[in-house]
Amino acid sequence: MIDAIKIREDFPIFKNSPSLIYLDSAATSQRPEVVIDTLKEFYENYNSNIHRGVYSLSFEASRRYEKAHYKVAELINAEGREIVFTKNTTEAINLVAYAYGLYNIKEGDEIVTTIMEHHSNFIPWQKMAELRKANLKLIPVNKSTCELEFDERIITEKTKIVALSLASNFMGTINPVKEIIKVAKEKGSITVVDAAQAVPHIPVDVKDLGCDFLAASGHKMLGPTGTGFLYGRKELLESIEPFIMGGGMIEDVTVEDSKWAEIPWKFEAGTPDIAGGIALGEAAEYLKNLGMEDIFEHEKKLTSVCLEKMKEIEEVELYGPAPEKRVGVISFNVKDADFHDIAGMLDSEGVCARSGRHCVHPLLNFLGIEGSVRVSFYIYNTEEEIERFIEILKKIISYLK
Ligand code: ALA
Repeated sequence: MIDAIKIREDFPIFKNSPSLIYLDSAATSQRPEVVIDTLKEFYENYNSNIHRGVYSLSFEASRRYEKAHYKVAELINAEGREIVFTKNTTEAINLVAYAYGLYNIKEGDEIVTTIMEHHSNFIPWQKMAELRKANLKLIPVNKSTCELEFDERIITEKTKIVALSLASNFMGTINPVKEIIKVAKEKGSITVVDAAQAVPHIPVDVKDLGCDFLAASGHKMLGPTGTGFLYGRKELLESIEPFIMGGGMIEDVTVEDSKWAEIPWKFEAGTPDIAGGIALGEAAEYLKNLGMEDIFEHEKKLTSVCLEKMKEIEEVELYGPAPEKRVGVISFNVKDADFHDIAGMLDSEGVCARSGRHCVHPLLNFLGIEGSVRVSFYIYNTEEEIERFIEILKKIISYLK
């Protein structure tokens, strides 16, 4: 069971701003003390570059940075070597697009994705389709249930990539990724999962999913900003080309040629965010210790309470599936009101909620809406906060009348 009140004690921001109602963890989560302390400890005690020095300080930094890859791997049932640290999900997906897609997609091939993708898992494939003269095919969404309408015939022998999100950042929908991956594999396609909104909130097991690649952001899972990771099946990571070339990712270089370092380092060119990477490892461990099943249960409860109360407000338009089919994300509009105005009024009452187009323009165009207000929940949110949010929302609506 998640005890949100107790968990809040681990987060300095709630000590510093006790009345803050933070409902924007889908954009970025808050960070626990252990993550913040890890950053400070690195710079104060063993700040040095990794994989480059033969002195103890550098060995210690390298050891901790490498260990962090294993901590992240443990959270998703991967091997440490299968985790590449990136700066976010976007960079991780671009890595796959350029290191795999550019070399393997040919004219007339197909890339299958969905209409509900965040731009990070849409634009790289749109670009790759253009560069390689391939066809971009989209799995549609049912407008009323907000779930994917997957027909397996969309994946064919020409499909080289199937790229889809495990959970939507706009509606929270949890997609039947395992089932789609099974079909993709039968047709010989590589699969890429955008798990930015899933890894922080639900149990994710890459072996069970059977995916080839999976990307997530550190800053949405209690880690520092500027951190993220790509999981890649080791045989694939070993066989593909690197994405970014430069220092630290080679075994040897001659004037004629370069030989790449072993995985994952061949994908981590240049000095990485060492402190951030180590702190991301701590964040992953913190989540693992809490238990991902319990985190999911906690969020489902909050989402269900919030949705029930929102449904009772006549002026509120809701998007997304039933609470048990989504992560803790609720997008909504208030009839005849601007979403930014609503978010601004919520802010004036101490509630942080995101408003706008949420980097899902194709989805919004398909749904025929300009944007929304979005609230999202995490381990430190309480039912009392939901109740307070509903009270404030009702007050705003009556004021607008
Ligand atoms: N991708 C983040 C969001 O959906 C920023 O808000």
